[in-house]
Amino acid sequence: MSLRAKFITAIMILLFFLVAAMLFLIERREEKAIFEEQKSKGVLTAKNIAYLNLEPFMFWDAEGVERNIQENIDQKLLYVAFFDQYNRPFAASDFAEKYEQIFKVSHLKGPVDENTYFFQTKEIQYNDNKNLISVLEIEVPVFTRGSSTKWGSIKIGLSLEDMQKEIKQTRFMLILIGLGGLLVGIGGAVFLSNRIAGPIKKLVDGTVRISRGDFSKKIKVSSQDEIRQLAESFNEMSRQLLLAKKRMEVANKKLIQAEKLASIGRISASIAHEIRNPLTSANLNIQKVLQSDKLEELEREHLDLSQEGIGHIEKFIKELLDFTRISELNMERFSIQEIIEESVKMISDSLEEKKIKLRTDFQENLPSLYVDGDKIRQVILNLLRNALEAVDKGGRIQISATLLKEGEKNAVKMEVMDNGSGIPNQERENIFEPFYTTKSSGIGLGLANAQKIIEQHQGSIRVKESEEGGACFEIILPVEGDK
Ligand SMILES: Nc1ncnc2c1ncn2[C@@H]1O[C@H](COP(=O)(O)OP(=O)(O)OP(=O)(O)O)[C@@H](O)[C@H]1O
Ligand SMILES: [Mg+2]
Repeated sequence: MSLRAKFITAIMILLFFLVAAMLFLIERREEKAIFEEQKSKGVLTAKNIAYLNLEPFMFWDAEGVERNIQENIDQKLLYVAFFDQYNRPFAASDFAEKYEQIFKVSHLKGPVDENTYFFQTKEIQYNDNKNLISVLEIEVPVFTRGSSTKWGSIKIGLSLEDMQKEIKQTRFMLILIGLGGLLVGIGGAVFLSNRIAGPIKKLVDGTVRISRGDFSKKIKVSSQDEIRQLAESFNEMSRQLLLAKKRMEVANKKLIQAEKLASIGRISASIAHEIRNPLTSANLNIQKVLQSDKLEELEREHLDLSQEGIGHIEKFIKELLDFTRISELNMERFSIQEIIEESVKMISDSLEEKKIKLRTDFQENLPSLYVDGDKIRQVILNLLRNALEAVDKGGRIQISATLLKEGEKNAVKMEVMDNGSGIPNQERENIFEPFYTTKSSGIGLGLANAQKIIEQHQGSIRVKESEEGGACFEIILPVEGDK
């Protein structure tokens, strides 16, 4: 059973009993009030009839009294009977005379005064009617003017049919009111339960979604109460969970990467060891042979090619070892401007050869960085070489360095931009992977190495599209670094 159904059922049961108890009490009081009213009306009617017949009664004119009262008999007033001061029957309407119980018996025995009266209700069969009808019988004493001694008494029978009808009507009205109240109450309960259970249901749906691992949607609760607070803390919790999940994914990726690097490192170290010595001796031997004068031009060309190949293998081994070796950083204060200018100088020949225009742009008063200068130079050199390789003859490369202020922390942002071929979107994810290359003579370790070094410095490196359609590498390094 849902919370909402429970709530509505409970309120319905409660309301039902409350309304029933209230109606019962009201009905009782109403009934009593109606009866009391009937009784006082009856007493008044009896006194009135006694007053109207006082004269014939005082002169013991029984016939006159009977004639008078017979005229008064109607639907409501069923019978009238007069008794003398000794409680003996004196005169009665026709119907009363038929019933000895009514005609013969007076109930007002003993001392009486103005306020004394007798009443009782009973069921009688009236005239030819087969059904019994309820009657209120009232007897009051009759006094002559100015005297306090009882002259006689008068007894009347009033039909209670009207009163019963009135009571029935009242009861019907009360039931209608009760039903109305019950309906309004149930409507209220449904409304309230929607207000309370609605947000709770949303909360439950949200938690179910989160438990299935879907953190994408927030729980929206519009009410301004504890449930909203609960929803908000739940949203915060799922936000934190999502954050933790993302962090874990990144950490996992890094772990896998580190694992990969470690195994590459082990393999490459042993390969390098095995290859280096024979390679060096091969290189030395080629150099020796090249020194001879007896070589033909063709032989010399072949040997040159071999030497070039050996150079390439040596470069590969060096880069591989650089990348896989986990070396300590040699941290010192360096001017980033100087590091960049030195790197540019190192490739100035190639720049000239390809007629490439290189522009540098430094913000004034950049703070010095606490970094491993050689490593950072290596990073910038890698980026510059890539840019150089990407642009056509006469292309443009631009390097800039600016200060970034993020609250308390300062950082330097460097950008290496070119107007070369650019990097397609789908390749951007892969370019930092070790051995990812699109070049025939490339190794694919330049950017992987750069990323490793920057991360060692607690910085970040990413690639974007440059304004001129080429690639733009952005490096952010903290000013203070790991002191
Ligand atoms: N400035 C650039 N413009 C266009 N593509 C680039 C640029 N820089 C890098 N790339 C792409 O990223 C790939 C990886 O670069 P990375 O420097 O890691 O290796 P590489 O240059 O191919 O080889 P090497 O190890 O000799 O540097 C390149 O092969 C190239 O496709
Ligand atoms: Mg490269």
